[in-house]
Amino acid sequence: MNHKELLEEAKKARLKSISPYSHFAVGAALMCKDGTVFHGANIENASFPLCMCAERTAIYSAILAGKKKEDFVALAVVADAPRPVSPCGACRQVMSELLNKDVPVIMGNLKGIAKESKVAELLPYAFEESDM
Ligand code: THU
Repeated sequence: MNHKELLEEAKKARLKSISPYSHFAVGAALMCKDGTVFHGANIENASFPLCMCAERTAIYSAILAGKKKEDFVALAVVADAPRPVSPCGACRQVMSELLNKDVPVIMGNLKGIAKESKVAELLPYAFEESDM
């Protein structure tokens, strides 16, 4: 699956978002070496701090299904936003620890604008285990 197709998967995942508070539905799709794709969507709660982002639901789902850091080859994220949706700081921190640093992150919106970066570029100087 190429990156454009992965973004299409993220659009499908977005339809599973539960976002009655922000009305901002986000979808993510995490591709593994064996071709498996894990969907993620933001899931909100009336207790706002419990809201969970699309990127993290995708990553955590994959891990719970038995996938490991080495299995992850690309992550796509999409929302109905003016510019390609930019992962929040918390998700960048999680990506930085649970995905390899060179994993491409494809960001898109529903207008068809997309851009690509890498985990390391999204969070330079990340706080890591070795910092403790
Ligand atoms: N959100 C994501 O799911 N991913 C992002 O990269 C940015 C923000 C969600 C969290 C919340 O449910 C809603 O978007 C508004 O912040």
